[in-house]
Amino acid sequence: MLTVLSAKPNIMILATGGTIAGQASSANATTGYKAGALGVDVLLKAVPELKNIANISTEQIANIDSSNMNDEIWLKLAKKVNQLMNNGNIDGIVITHGTDTMEETAYFLNLVTKGSKPVVLVGAMRPATATSADGPKNLYNAVALAGSKNALNRGVMVAMNDKIYAARDVTKTHTLNVETFKASNAGEIGYIVDGKAIFNHTVTKEHTRNTPFDVSSIISLPKVDIIYTYSNDGSQVASEAFVKAGAKGLVVAGSGAGSIHENSKNYLIKLLKEKKILVVKSSRVGSGLVPISKEELNQGFISANDLNPQKARVLLMLALTKTKDPRQIAKYFEYY
Ligand code: SIN
Repeated sequence: MLTVLSAKPNIMILATGGTIAGQASSANATTGYKAGALGVDVLLKAVPELKNIANISTEQIANIDSSNMNDEIWLKLAKKVNQLMNNGNIDGIVITHGTDTMEETAYFLNLVTKGSKPVVLVGAMRPATATSADGPKNLYNAVALAGSKNALNRGVMVAMNDKIYAARDVTKTHTLNVETFKASNAGEIGYIVDGKAIFNHTVTKEHTRNTPFDVSSIISLPKVDIIYTYSNDGSQVASEAFVKAGAKGLVVAGSGAGSIHENSKNYLIKLLKEKKILVVKSSRVGSGLVPISKEELNQGFISANDLNPQKARVLLMLALTKTKDPRQIAKYFEYY
Protein backbone atom coordinates (compact mmCIF):
# COMPACT_ATOMS: atom_id res chain seq x y z
CA MET A 1 0.00 0.00 0.00
CA LEU A 2 1.28 3.47 -0.89
CA THR A 3 1.33 5.95 1.99
CA VAL A 4 1.24 9.60 0.93
CA LEU A 5 3.15 11.76 3.38
CA SER A 6 1.87 15.31 3.54
CA ALA A 7 4.60 17.90 4.08
CA LYS A 8 4.58 19.76 7.38
CA PRO A 9 3.76 23.47 7.13
CA ASN A 10 6.52 26.03 7.63
CA ILE A 11 5.57 28.30 10.50
CA MET A 12 7.37 31.45 11.61
CA ILE A 13 7.00 32.39 15.27
CA LEU A 14 7.50 36.09 16.00
CA ALA A 15 7.99 36.55 19.73
CA THR A 16 7.15 39.78 21.56
CA GLY A 17 7.10 38.73 25.26
CA GLY A 18 4.15 38.59 27.65
CA THR A 19 3.22 36.12 30.36
CA ILE A 20 3.73 33.25 27.95
CA ALA A 21 7.42 34.23 28.29
CA GLY A 22 7.02 35.14 31.96
CA GLN A 23 9.17 33.91 34.81
CA ALA A 24 8.06 33.78 38.45
CA SER A 25 10.05 33.08 41.61
CA SER A 26 7.93 30.03 42.45
CA ALA A 27 5.74 27.55 40.59
CA ASN A 28 2.74 28.68 42.64
CA ALA A 29 3.04 32.33 41.66
CA THR A 30 0.63 33.56 38.99
CA THR A 31 0.99 37.26 39.87
CA GLY A 32 3.97 39.47 40.61
CA TYR A 33 6.18 37.77 38.00
CA LYS A 34 8.18 39.31 35.17
CA ALA A 35 6.43 39.12 31.80
CA GLY A 36 8.68 38.97 28.74
CA ALA A 37 11.59 37.39 30.62
CA LEU A 38 12.28 34.26 28.55
CA GLY A 39 13.40 33.99 24.94
CA VAL A 40 11.38 32.22 22.25
CA ASP A 41 13.80 29.23 22.31
CA VAL A 42 12.79 28.49 25.91
CA LEU A 43 9.10 28.56 24.92
CA LEU A 44 9.76 26.08 22.11
CA LYS A 45 11.66 23.70 24.42
CA ALA A 46 8.53 23.36 26.56
CA VAL A 47 6.60 21.97 23.57
CA PRO A 48 8.76 19.33 21.86
CA GLU A 49 5.63 18.00 20.08
CA LEU A 50 5.67 21.09 17.85
CA LYS A 51 8.25 19.45 15.62
CA ASN A 52 5.69 16.76 14.75
CA ILE A 53 3.25 19.26 13.29
CA ALA A 54 5.39 22.02 11.72
CA ASN A 55 8.83 23.17 10.64
CA ILE A 56 9.39 26.11 12.93
CA SER A 57 11.56 29.17 12.54
CA THR A 58 11.63 32.00 15.06
CA GLU A 59 12.45 35.66 15.46
CA GLN A 60 12.45 37.66 18.68
CA ILE A 61 10.84 40.98 17.71
CA ALA A 62 10.65 42.30 21.29
CA ASN A 63 10.48 40.92 24.82
CA ILE A 64 8.12 43.14 26.76
CA ASP A 65 5.15 43.18 29.08
CA SER A 66 2.44 44.01 26.54
CA SER A 67 1.11 46.84 28.72
CA ASN A 68 4.17 48.65 27.29
CA MET A 69 3.26 47.95 23.65
CA ASN A 70 3.96 50.87 21.33
CA ASP A 71 3.57 52.06 17.72
CA GLU A 72 7.20 51.29 16.90
CA ILE A 73 6.78 47.58 17.67
CA TRP A 74 3.40 47.52 15.89
CA LEU A 75 4.93 48.93 12.72
CA LYS A 76 7.91 46.57 12.95
CA LEU A 77 5.57 43.59 13.40
CA ALA A 78 3.28 44.67 10.55
CA LYS A 79 6.19 45.11 8.14
CA LYS A 80 7.64 41.74 9.17
CA VAL A 81 4.29 39.97 8.72
CA ASN A 82 3.88 41.56 5.28
CA GLN A 83 7.35 40.32 4.29
CA LEU A 84 6.42 36.82 5.43
CA MET A 85 3.14 37.00 3.50
CA ASN A 86 5.28 37.34 0.37
CA ASN A 87 7.79 34.66 1.37
CA GLY A 88 6.98 31.45 -0.51
CA ASN A 89 8.74 29.36 2.16
CA ILE A 90 6.37 30.38 4.95
CA ASP A 91 2.84 28.97 5.31
CA GLY A 92 1.67 30.64 8.50
CA ILE A 93 2.70 33.11 11.19
CA VAL A 94 2.35 32.86 14.98
CA ILE A 95 2.92 35.89 17.19
CA THR A 96 3.52 35.30 20.90
CA HIS A 97 2.21 38.30 22.83
CA GLY A 98 1.12 39.43 26.29
CA THR A 99 -2.62 39.12 26.81
CA ASP A 100 -3.13 42.65 28.18
CA THR A 101 -3.03 44.42 24.81
CA MET A 102 -3.21 41.40 22.50
CA GLU A 103 -6.60 42.50 21.17
CA GLU A 104 -5.18 45.88 20.07
CA THR A 105 -2.17 44.40 18.26
CA ALA A 106 -4.37 41.72 16.66
CA TYR A 107 -6.84 44.32 15.35
CA PHE A 108 -4.03 46.60 14.13
CA LEU A 109 -2.47 43.71 12.17
CA ASN A 110 -5.91 42.67 10.92
CA LEU A 111 -6.23 46.09 9.29
CA VAL A 112 -2.71 46.55 7.88
CA THR A 113 -1.31 43.15 6.88
CA LYS A 114 -1.89 42.05 3.32
CA GLY A 115 -2.22 38.40 2.51
CA SER A 116 -4.25 35.27 3.02
CA LYS A 117 -1.84 33.25 5.20
CA PRO A 118 -3.00 32.57 8.75
CA VAL A 119 -1.68 35.03 11.34
CA VAL A 120 -2.33 33.84 14.89
CA LEU A 121 -1.65 35.71 18.13
CA VAL A 122 -1.17 33.62 21.24
CA GLY A 123 -0.30 34.19 24.87
CA ALA A 124 -0.83 32.78 28.32
CA MET A 125 -2.40 33.80 31.60
CA ARG A 126 0.06 31.84 33.74
CA PRO A 127 3.81 32.41 33.48
CA ALA A 128 5.94 29.75 31.82
CA THR A 129 7.31 28.71 35.24
CA ALA A 130 3.86 28.09 36.81
CA THR A 131 2.33 24.74 37.69
CA SER A 132 -0.19 24.04 34.95
CA ALA A 133 1.13 26.85 32.75
CA ASP A 134 -1.29 27.40 29.87
CA GLY A 135 1.35 28.71 27.43
CA PRO A 136 2.60 25.39 26.00
CA LYS A 137 -0.86 24.12 25.00
CA ASN A 138 -1.84 27.53 23.66
CA LEU A 139 1.36 27.64 21.59
CA TYR A 140 0.76 24.13 20.24
CA ASN A 141 -2.78 25.16 19.23
CA ALA A 142 -1.58 28.39 17.64
CA VAL A 143 1.01 26.58 15.50
CA ALA A 144 -1.57 23.96 14.50
CA LEU A 145 -4.01 26.74 13.54
CA ALA A 146 -1.38 28.71 11.60
CA GLY A 147 -0.52 25.55 9.66
CA SER A 148 -4.12 24.69 8.84
CA LYS A 149 -5.36 25.16 5.25
CA ASN A 150 -8.76 25.79 6.81
CA ALA A 151 -7.41 28.95 8.40
CA LEU A 152 -6.53 30.76 5.15
CA ASN A 153 -8.26 34.07 4.43
CA ARG A 154 -9.82 34.49 7.86
CA GLY A 155 -7.94 37.64 8.88
CA VAL A 156 -5.80 37.81 11.99
CA MET A 157 -6.87 35.41 14.75
CA VAL A 158 -6.26 34.89 18.45
CA ALA A 159 -5.90 31.33 19.78
CA MET A 160 -6.40 31.10 23.53
CA ASN A 161 -7.68 28.33 25.79
CA ASP A 162 -8.59 26.02 22.87
CA LYS A 163 -10.72 28.70 21.16
CA ILE A 164 -10.25 30.73 17.99
CA TYR A 165 -11.31 34.38 17.88
CA ALA A 166 -11.36 36.96 15.09
CA ALA A 167 -9.09 39.92 15.84
CA ARG A 168 -11.88 42.47 15.51
CA ASP A 169 -14.18 40.74 17.97
CA VAL A 170 -11.94 39.51 20.75
CA THR A 171 -11.35 41.19 24.08
CA LYS A 172 -9.80 40.30 27.42
CA THR A 173 -12.49 40.03 30.11
CA HIS A 174 -10.85 38.63 33.26
CA THR A 175 -7.73 39.88 35.00
CA LEU A 176 -6.34 36.46 35.92
CA ASN A 177 -8.41 33.52 34.73
CA VAL A 178 -7.25 31.37 31.79
CA GLU A 179 -10.76 31.65 30.31
CA THR A 180 -10.36 35.39 29.81
CA PHE A 181 -10.85 36.01 26.10
CA LYS A 182 -14.37 36.50 24.79
CA ALA A 183 -16.03 38.01 21.78
CA SER A 184 -19.18 39.39 23.35
CA ASN A 185 -20.76 40.71 20.14
CA ALA A 186 -19.86 37.85 17.83
CA GLY A 187 -18.70 34.77 19.74
CA GLU A 188 -15.60 32.74 18.92
CA ILE A 189 -15.21 31.63 15.30
CA GLY A 190 -13.99 28.15 16.10
CA TYR A 191 -11.98 25.89 18.36
CA ILE A 192 -9.00 23.55 18.31
CA VAL A 193 -9.07 19.91 19.35
CA ASP A 194 -5.97 17.69 19.29
CA GLY A 195 -4.27 20.04 16.83
CA LYS A 196 -7.26 20.26 14.48
CA ALA A 197 -8.83 23.67 13.84
CA ILE A 198 -12.60 23.57 13.52
CA PHE A 199 -14.45 26.68 12.33
CA ASN A 200 -18.10 27.45 13.05
CA HIS A 201 -18.33 31.02 11.79
CA THR A 202 -16.83 33.16 9.06
CA VAL A 203 -15.72 36.72 9.62
CA THR A 204 -17.98 39.20 7.83
CA LYS A 205 -16.12 42.49 8.35
CA GLU A 206 -13.43 43.34 5.78
CA HIS A 207 -9.81 42.77 6.82
CA THR A 208 -6.20 42.44 5.62
CA ARG A 209 -6.14 42.77 1.79
CA ASN A 210 -9.59 44.36 1.73
CA THR A 211 -8.77 47.45 3.78
CA PRO A 212 -7.20 50.65 2.41
CA PHE A 213 -4.64 50.88 5.24
CA ASP A 214 -1.02 50.52 4.19
CA VAL A 215 1.83 51.07 6.63
CA SER A 216 4.67 50.04 4.30
CA SER A 217 6.06 53.56 4.10
CA ILE A 218 4.78 54.86 7.44
CA ILE A 219 7.24 55.46 10.27
CA SER A 220 4.85 56.88 12.87
CA LEU A 221 1.11 56.84 13.51
CA PRO A 222 -1.21 59.79 14.23
CA LYS A 223 -1.72 60.40 17.94
CA VAL A 224 -5.15 59.34 19.22
CA ASP A 225 -6.05 59.15 22.91
CA ILE A 226 -8.91 57.78 24.99
CA ILE A 227 -10.99 59.64 27.56
CA TYR A 228 -13.41 57.99 29.98
CA THR A 229 -16.74 59.42 31.14
CA TYR A 230 -18.12 58.94 34.68
CA SER A 231 -20.30 60.66 37.28
CA ASN A 232 -19.16 64.27 37.84
CA ASP A 233 -16.85 63.81 34.82
CA GLY A 234 -13.67 65.86 34.97
CA SER A 235 -12.15 64.52 31.78
CA GLN A 236 -12.16 67.89 30.01
CA VAL A 237 -8.75 68.42 31.59
CA ALA A 238 -7.52 65.20 29.96
CA SER A 239 -8.97 66.20 26.56
CA GLU A 240 -7.25 69.59 26.78
CA ALA A 241 -3.94 67.98 27.68
CA PHE A 242 -4.17 65.35 24.94
CA VAL A 243 -4.88 67.96 22.27
CA LYS A 244 -2.07 70.15 23.59
CA ALA A 245 0.24 67.12 23.35
CA GLY A 246 -0.68 66.67 19.68
CA ALA A 247 -3.71 64.36 19.61
CA LYS A 248 -5.47 64.46 16.26
CA GLY A 249 -8.35 62.34 17.51
CA LEU A 250 -10.07 61.31 20.72
CA VAL A 251 -12.09 58.22 21.52
CA VAL A 252 -14.60 58.55 24.33
CA ALA A 253 -15.38 55.55 26.50
CA GLY A 254 -18.96 56.69 27.05
CA SER A 255 -21.45 55.34 29.55
CA GLY A 256 -24.23 52.98 28.44
CA ALA A 257 -24.88 53.34 24.72
CA GLY A 258 -22.01 55.85 24.44
CA SER A 259 -23.46 58.77 26.42
CA ILE A 260 -20.99 61.47 27.41
CA HIS A 261 -21.41 63.63 30.54
CA GLU A 262 -22.23 67.22 29.60
CA ASN A 263 -19.14 68.45 31.50
CA SER A 264 -17.03 66.73 28.89
CA LYS A 265 -19.34 66.78 25.87
CA ASN A 266 -19.61 70.56 25.62
CA TYR A 267 -15.85 70.83 25.41
CA LEU A 268 -15.68 68.03 22.81
CA ILE A 269 -18.19 69.93 20.65
CA LYS A 270 -15.88 72.95 20.87
CA LEU A 271 -12.90 70.79 19.83
CA LEU A 272 -14.86 69.39 16.87
CA LYS A 273 -15.82 72.86 15.71
CA GLU A 274 -12.76 74.94 16.42
CA LYS A 275 -9.84 72.50 16.25
CA LYS A 276 -11.15 69.87 13.82
CA ILE A 277 -10.20 67.13 16.26
CA LEU A 278 -11.93 63.86 15.34
CA VAL A 279 -14.09 62.44 18.15
CA VAL A 280 -15.32 58.85 18.18
CA LYS A 281 -18.04 57.77 20.59
CA SER A 282 -17.54 54.29 22.03
CA SER A 283 -18.81 52.70 25.22
CA ARG A 284 -17.23 51.52 28.45
CA VAL A 285 -19.92 48.78 28.73
CA GLY A 286 -17.99 46.09 26.84
CA SER A 287 -20.48 45.04 24.18
CA GLY A 288 -23.13 46.43 21.88
CA LEU A 289 -23.49 49.11 19.24
CA VAL A 290 -23.14 52.83 19.94
CA PRO A 291 -25.91 54.71 18.13
CA ILE A 292 -25.42 58.30 17.02
CA SER A 293 -28.10 61.00 16.78
CA LYS A 294 -28.60 63.33 13.81
CA GLU A 295 -27.52 66.23 15.99
CA GLU A 296 -24.29 64.46 16.97
CA LEU A 297 -23.61 63.57 13.33
CA ASN A 298 -23.96 67.23 12.42
CA GLN A 299 -21.67 68.17 15.28
CA GLY A 300 -19.06 65.80 13.79
CA PHE A 301 -19.18 62.89 16.25
CA ILE A 302 -18.47 59.44 14.83
CA SER A 303 -19.87 56.17 16.18
CA ALA A 304 -17.37 53.43 17.04
CA ASN A 305 -20.00 50.95 15.87
CA ASP A 306 -19.47 48.02 18.29
CA LEU A 307 -15.72 48.47 18.74
CA ASN A 308 -14.54 48.92 22.30
CA PRO A 309 -12.56 52.13 23.04
CA GLN A 310 -9.10 50.57 22.66
CA LYS A 311 -10.02 49.09 19.27
CA ALA A 312 -11.82 52.25 18.13
CA ARG A 313 -8.54 54.04 18.85
CA VAL A 314 -6.65 51.66 16.53
CA LEU A 315 -9.09 52.25 13.68
CA LEU A 316 -9.14 56.03 14.19
CA MET A 317 -5.33 56.14 14.07
CA LEU A 318 -5.32 54.26 10.78
CA ALA A 319 -8.25 56.25 9.41
CA LEU A 320 -6.27 59.43 10.08
CA THR A 321 -3.49 58.14 7.82
CA LYS A 322 -6.03 58.35 4.97
CA THR A 323 -8.37 61.28 5.65
CA LYS A 324 -9.63 63.84 8.16
CA ASP A 325 -13.19 63.77 6.80
CA PRO A 326 -15.52 62.57 9.59
CA ARG A 327 -18.05 61.17 7.07
CA GLN A 328 -15.39 59.02 5.40
CA ILE A 329 -14.06 57.91 8.79
CA ALA A 330 -17.62 57.01 9.85
CA LYS A 331 -17.74 54.71 6.80
CA TYR A 332 -14.51 53.01 7.93
CA PHE A 333 -16.19 52.33 11.27
CA GLU A 334 -19.06 50.65 9.43
CA TYR A 335 -16.82 48.49 7.20
CA TYR A 336 -13.92 47.44 9.39
C1 SIN B 1 1.31 41.08 29.33
O1 SIN B 1 0.31 41.42 28.73
O2 SIN B 1 2.45 41.15 28.83
C2 SIN B 1 1.21 40.56 30.72
C3 SIN B 1 -0.02 39.81 30.99
C4 SIN B 1 -0.19 38.58 30.14
O3 SIN B 1 0.50 38.30 29.19
O4 SIN B 1 -1.13 37.82 30.49
